[in-house]
Amino acid sequence: MSNDSIFKTFLVAFLLCVVCSVLVCLAAIVRIDKEAYNKQLEIRKTVLAAGGYQQQIDAGGKIDELFTTNMELKLVDLATGEYTTAVDAATYNQREAVENPELSVGIPADLDIAKIGTRAKYAAVYLDKSGTVVLPIHGGGMWGPIYGYISVAADGTTIKGLTFYQHAETPGLGAEIDNPNWKKQWPEKKIYNSSGKLAIKVVKKGKYNASAADAVSTVDGLAGATVTGNKVNAIIRYWLGENGYAPFLAKFKAERG
Ligand SMILES: Cc1cc2nc3c(=O)[nH]c(=O)nc-3n(C[C@H](O)[C@H](O)[C@H](O)COP(=O)(O)O)c2cc1C
Repeated sequence: MSNDSIFKTFLVAFLLCVVCSVLVCLAAIVRIDKEAYNKQLEIRKTVLAAGGYQQQIDAGGKIDELFTTNMELKLVDLATGEYTTAVDAATYNQREAVENPELSVGIPADLDIAKIGTRAKYAAVYLDKSGTVVLPIHGGGMWGPIYGYISVAADGTTIKGLTFYQHAETPGLGAEIDNPNWKKQWPEKKIYNSSGKLAIKVVKKGKYNASAADAVSTVDGLAGATVTGNKVNAIIRYWLGENGYAPFLAKFKAERG
Protein backbone atom coordinates (compact mmCIF):
# COMPACT_ATOMS: atom_id res chain seq x y z
CA MET A 1 0.00 0.00 0.00
CA SER A 2 1.34 3.44 -0.90
CA ASN A 3 2.42 5.76 1.95
CA ASP A 4 0.12 8.38 0.44
CA SER A 5 -2.99 6.19 0.75
CA ILE A 6 -5.96 7.63 2.65
CA PHE A 7 -5.92 4.62 5.00
CA LYS A 8 -2.29 5.22 6.02
CA THR A 9 -2.87 8.96 6.47
CA PHE A 10 -5.77 8.27 8.84
CA LEU A 11 -3.81 5.51 10.62
CA VAL A 12 -0.87 7.83 11.31
CA ALA A 13 -3.21 10.60 12.49
CA PHE A 14 -5.06 8.11 14.74
CA LEU A 15 -1.87 6.70 16.25
CA LEU A 16 -0.56 10.21 16.88
CA CYS A 17 -3.80 11.04 18.74
CA VAL A 18 -3.51 7.88 20.86
CA VAL A 19 0.12 8.62 21.80
CA CYS A 20 -0.70 12.25 22.67
CA SER A 21 -3.73 11.21 24.79
CA VAL A 22 -1.61 8.71 26.73
CA LEU A 23 1.05 11.38 27.36
CA VAL A 24 -1.55 13.93 28.54
CA CYS A 25 -3.14 11.31 30.88
CA LEU A 26 0.25 10.37 32.32
CA ALA A 27 1.13 14.02 32.90
CA ALA A 28 -2.23 14.54 34.69
CA ILE A 29 -1.70 11.46 36.89
CA VAL A 30 1.82 12.58 37.83
CA ARG A 31 0.48 16.06 38.66
CA ILE A 32 -2.33 14.66 40.85
CA ASP A 33 0.17 12.41 42.66
CA LYS A 34 2.51 15.35 43.20
CA GLU A 35 -0.34 17.55 44.50
CA ALA A 36 -1.47 14.81 46.91
CA TYR A 37 2.12 14.32 48.08
CA ASN A 38 2.64 18.07 48.58
CA LYS A 39 -0.60 18.28 50.58
CA GLN A 40 0.51 15.37 52.76
CA LEU A 41 3.94 16.97 53.19
CA GLU A 42 2.34 20.26 54.30
CA ILE A 43 0.27 18.44 56.92
CA ARG A 44 3.26 16.46 58.12
CA LYS A 45 5.22 19.70 58.40
CA THR A 46 2.42 21.27 60.47
CA VAL A 47 2.17 18.23 62.75
CA LEU A 48 5.93 18.35 63.31
CA ALA A 49 5.92 22.12 63.86
CA ALA A 50 3.11 21.83 66.41
CA GLY A 51 4.97 18.92 67.99
CA GLY A 52 8.04 21.07 68.65
CA TYR A 53 10.20 20.15 65.65
CA GLN A 54 10.32 23.63 64.06
CA GLN A 55 14.03 24.05 64.82
CA GLN A 56 14.90 20.76 63.12
CA ILE A 57 12.77 21.75 60.12
CA ASP A 58 14.47 25.16 59.92
CA ALA A 59 17.85 23.42 60.13
CA GLY A 60 16.95 21.48 56.97
CA GLY A 61 15.64 18.28 58.58
CA LYS A 62 13.78 16.05 56.12
CA ILE A 63 10.03 16.27 56.82
CA ASP A 64 9.21 12.67 55.84
CA GLU A 65 12.13 11.28 57.82
CA LEU A 66 11.38 13.34 60.95
CA PHE A 67 7.72 12.41 60.67
CA THR A 68 8.07 8.66 60.21
CA THR A 69 10.76 8.41 62.90
CA ASN A 70 8.83 10.31 65.54
CA MET A 71 5.09 10.24 64.90
CA GLU A 72 2.68 7.35 65.36
CA LEU A 73 -0.84 7.77 63.97
CA LYS A 74 -3.74 6.66 66.19
CA LEU A 75 -7.48 7.16 65.96
CA VAL A 76 -9.40 8.42 68.98
CA ASP A 77 -13.12 7.96 69.50
CA LEU A 78 -14.00 11.46 70.71
CA ALA A 79 -17.14 10.30 72.55
CA THR A 80 -15.19 7.96 74.85
CA GLY A 81 -11.67 9.35 74.64
CA GLU A 82 -10.44 5.81 73.87
CA TYR A 83 -8.24 4.76 70.98
CA THR A 84 -10.24 2.93 68.33
CA THR A 85 -9.62 0.56 65.45
CA ALA A 86 -13.22 0.86 64.19
CA VAL A 87 -11.82 2.18 60.91
CA ASP A 88 -8.44 1.74 59.26
CA ALA A 89 -6.17 4.56 60.52
CA ALA A 90 -3.90 4.37 57.47
CA THR A 91 -6.68 5.24 55.03
CA TYR A 92 -8.87 7.36 57.34
CA ASN A 93 -9.29 11.02 56.40
CA GLN A 94 -10.80 13.05 59.22
CA ARG A 95 -11.74 15.97 56.99
CA GLU A 96 -13.55 13.70 54.54
CA ALA A 97 -15.23 11.84 57.43
CA VAL A 98 -17.12 15.03 58.28
CA GLU A 99 -19.08 14.57 55.03
CA ASN A 100 -19.93 10.94 55.84
CA PRO A 101 -23.04 10.55 58.07
CA GLU A 102 -21.75 7.21 59.39
CA LEU A 103 -18.46 8.73 60.50
CA SER A 104 -19.67 12.08 61.83
CA VAL A 105 -21.99 13.66 64.39
CA GLY A 106 -23.90 16.94 64.35
CA ILE A 107 -22.95 19.42 67.07
CA PRO A 108 -25.90 21.01 68.92
CA ALA A 109 -25.92 24.78 68.24
CA ASP A 110 -25.43 25.70 71.92
CA LEU A 111 -22.23 23.63 72.09
CA ASP A 112 -20.93 24.64 68.68
CA ILE A 113 -18.75 27.54 69.82
CA ALA A 114 -16.19 26.90 67.04
CA LYS A 115 -18.94 27.00 64.36
CA ILE A 116 -18.15 23.55 63.01
CA GLY A 117 -21.69 22.20 62.54
CA THR A 118 -20.61 18.58 62.17
CA ARG A 119 -17.49 16.83 63.41
CA ALA A 120 -15.88 13.49 62.71
CA LYS A 121 -16.49 10.77 65.32
CA TYR A 122 -12.84 9.78 65.23
CA ALA A 123 -9.83 12.08 65.43
CA ALA A 124 -6.53 11.21 63.77
CA VAL A 125 -3.95 12.09 66.44
CA TYR A 126 -0.17 11.67 66.39
CA LEU A 127 1.74 10.25 69.33
CA ASP A 128 5.20 11.74 69.39
CA LYS A 129 8.15 9.71 70.67
CA SER A 130 8.96 12.54 73.11
CA GLY A 131 5.69 11.75 74.92
CA THR A 132 3.46 14.50 73.56
CA VAL A 133 0.36 14.08 71.42
CA VAL A 134 -0.47 16.25 68.40
CA LEU A 135 -4.19 16.90 67.94
CA PRO A 136 -6.02 18.22 64.86
CA ILE A 137 -8.28 21.23 65.46
CA HIS A 138 -10.44 23.37 63.23
CA GLY A 139 -13.29 25.84 63.20
CA GLY A 140 -14.60 29.03 61.68
CA GLY A 141 -12.30 32.00 61.24
CA MET A 142 -13.31 35.53 60.20
CA TRP A 143 -13.09 34.77 56.48
CA GLY A 144 -13.21 30.98 56.29
CA PRO A 145 -12.30 27.80 58.16
CA ILE A 146 -9.07 27.57 60.12
CA TYR A 147 -7.26 24.20 60.33
CA GLY A 148 -4.28 23.37 62.52
CA TYR A 149 -2.68 21.16 65.12
CA ILE A 150 -2.00 21.63 68.82
CA SER A 151 0.36 19.46 70.82
CA VAL A 152 -0.05 18.55 74.46
CA ALA A 153 2.52 17.10 76.88
CA ALA A 154 2.14 13.76 78.67
CA ASP A 155 0.61 15.55 81.68
CA GLY A 156 -2.48 16.15 79.50
CA THR A 157 -2.54 19.89 80.22
CA THR A 158 0.70 21.59 79.10
CA ILE A 159 0.63 22.90 75.54
CA LYS A 160 3.83 22.27 73.59
CA GLY A 161 2.93 24.06 70.36
CA LEU A 162 0.21 25.33 68.02
CA THR A 163 0.43 25.67 64.23
CA PHE A 164 -2.15 26.35 61.54
CA TYR A 165 -1.88 24.98 58.01
CA GLN A 166 -4.97 26.48 56.37
CA HIS A 167 -6.97 29.67 56.87
CA ALA A 168 -8.24 32.67 54.93
CA GLU A 169 -7.47 35.42 57.47
CA THR A 170 -6.15 38.77 56.23
CA PRO A 171 -2.37 39.17 55.87
CA GLY A 172 -1.09 41.60 58.51
CA LEU A 173 -4.26 41.14 60.61
CA GLY A 174 -5.80 37.72 61.33
CA ALA A 175 -3.07 35.92 59.38
CA GLU A 176 -0.68 36.94 62.15
CA ILE A 177 -1.79 33.67 63.81
CA ASP A 178 1.08 32.25 61.71
CA ASN A 179 3.59 34.75 63.09
CA PRO A 180 6.23 32.89 65.15
CA ASN A 181 6.24 35.80 67.62
CA TRP A 182 2.57 35.22 68.35
CA LYS A 183 2.81 31.43 68.31
CA LYS A 184 5.68 31.40 70.81
CA GLN A 185 3.23 32.43 73.55
CA TRP A 186 1.57 29.00 73.45
CA PRO A 187 4.21 26.52 74.66
CA GLU A 188 3.97 25.84 78.42
CA LYS A 189 0.47 27.31 78.74
CA LYS A 190 -1.86 25.12 80.82
CA ILE A 191 -5.13 23.95 79.27
CA TYR A 192 -6.85 23.12 82.57
CA ASN A 193 -6.62 24.78 86.00
CA SER A 194 -5.79 22.95 89.22
CA SER A 195 -9.45 21.87 89.54
CA GLY A 196 -9.34 20.35 86.06
CA LYS A 197 -11.56 23.09 84.58
CA LEU A 198 -10.93 24.32 81.05
CA ALA A 199 -8.89 27.50 81.51
CA ILE A 200 -6.95 28.21 78.30
CA LYS A 201 -8.10 31.37 76.53
CA VAL A 202 -7.08 34.07 74.09
CA VAL A 203 -7.79 37.62 75.34
CA LYS A 204 -7.94 40.93 73.46
CA LYS A 205 -4.48 42.28 72.63
CA GLY A 206 -3.10 44.17 75.63
CA LYS A 207 -5.44 42.53 78.17
CA TYR A 208 -2.90 39.84 79.07
CA ASN A 209 -1.59 40.37 82.59
CA ALA A 210 1.58 38.42 83.32
CA SER A 211 1.07 38.64 87.07
CA ALA A 212 -2.58 37.51 87.08
CA ALA A 213 -3.31 34.11 88.60
CA ASP A 214 -4.64 32.84 85.25
CA ALA A 215 -1.66 34.11 83.18
CA VAL A 216 -0.43 30.53 82.78
CA SER A 217 -3.60 29.76 80.80
CA THR A 218 -3.91 33.09 78.96
CA VAL A 219 -2.62 34.08 75.50
CA ASP A 220 -2.53 37.69 74.34
CA GLY A 221 -4.60 38.36 71.20
CA LEU A 222 -3.59 40.02 67.94
CA ALA A 223 -3.33 43.77 67.34
CA GLY A 224 -6.18 44.93 65.09
CA ALA A 225 -7.45 41.35 64.78
CA THR A 226 -9.60 40.70 67.81
CA VAL A 227 -12.14 38.86 65.66
CA THR A 228 -9.59 36.21 64.61
CA GLY A 229 -8.27 36.04 68.19
CA ASN A 230 -11.82 35.31 69.39
CA LYS A 231 -12.24 32.66 66.68
CA VAL A 232 -9.00 30.93 67.70
CA ASN A 233 -10.16 31.15 71.33
CA ALA A 234 -13.43 29.39 70.39
CA ILE A 235 -11.63 26.73 68.32
CA ILE A 236 -9.16 25.95 71.11
CA ARG A 237 -11.83 25.89 73.78
CA TYR A 238 -14.16 23.67 71.75
CA TRP A 239 -11.51 21.09 70.92
CA LEU A 240 -9.89 21.02 74.36
CA GLY A 241 -13.25 21.00 76.14
CA GLU A 242 -15.56 18.17 77.19
CA ASN A 243 -17.01 17.76 73.68
CA GLY A 244 -13.55 17.60 72.13
CA TYR A 245 -10.35 16.08 73.51
CA ALA A 246 -10.92 16.48 77.29
CA PRO A 247 -11.97 12.81 77.79
CA PHE A 248 -9.01 11.65 75.67
CA LEU A 249 -6.49 13.92 77.42
CA ALA A 250 -7.60 12.63 80.85
CA LYS A 251 -6.89 9.07 79.68
CA PHE A 252 -3.67 10.11 77.93
CA LYS A 253 -2.43 11.65 81.19
CA ALA A 254 -3.32 8.54 83.20
CA GLU A 255 -1.50 6.38 80.66
CA ARG A 256 1.57 8.49 79.91
CA GLY A 257 1.81 11.29 82.48
C1 LIG B 1 -10.63 44.29 54.71
C2 LIG B 1 -10.56 43.95 56.17
C3 LIG B 1 -10.04 42.74 56.55
C4 LIG B 1 -9.98 42.40 57.90
N1 LIG B 1 -9.47 41.19 58.26
C5 LIG B 1 -9.45 40.85 59.55
C6 LIG B 1 -8.98 39.57 59.95
O1 LIG B 1 -8.53 38.73 59.15
N2 LIG B 1 -9.04 39.28 61.27
C7 LIG B 1 -9.51 40.15 62.21
O2 LIG B 1 -9.57 39.80 63.38
N3 LIG B 1 -9.92 41.37 61.86
C8 LIG B 1 -9.90 41.74 60.55
N4 LIG B 1 -10.35 42.96 60.21
C9 LIG B 1 -10.70 43.92 61.28
C10 LIG B 1 -11.98 43.59 61.97
O3 LIG B 1 -13.07 44.04 61.21
C11 LIG B 1 -12.04 44.22 63.36
O4 LIG B 1 -11.99 45.59 63.21
C12 LIG B 1 -10.89 43.79 64.24
O5 LIG B 1 -10.86 42.40 64.36
C13 LIG B 1 -11.03 44.38 65.63
O6 LIG B 1 -9.81 44.16 66.27
P1 LIG B 1 -9.24 45.26 67.32
O7 LIG B 1 -10.30 45.36 68.40
O8 LIG B 1 -7.98 44.64 67.85
O9 LIG B 1 -9.02 46.51 66.59
C14 LIG B 1 -10.43 43.31 58.88
C15 LIG B 1 -10.96 44.53 58.48
C16 LIG B 1 -11.02 44.87 57.15
C17 LIG B 1 -11.60 46.18 56.74
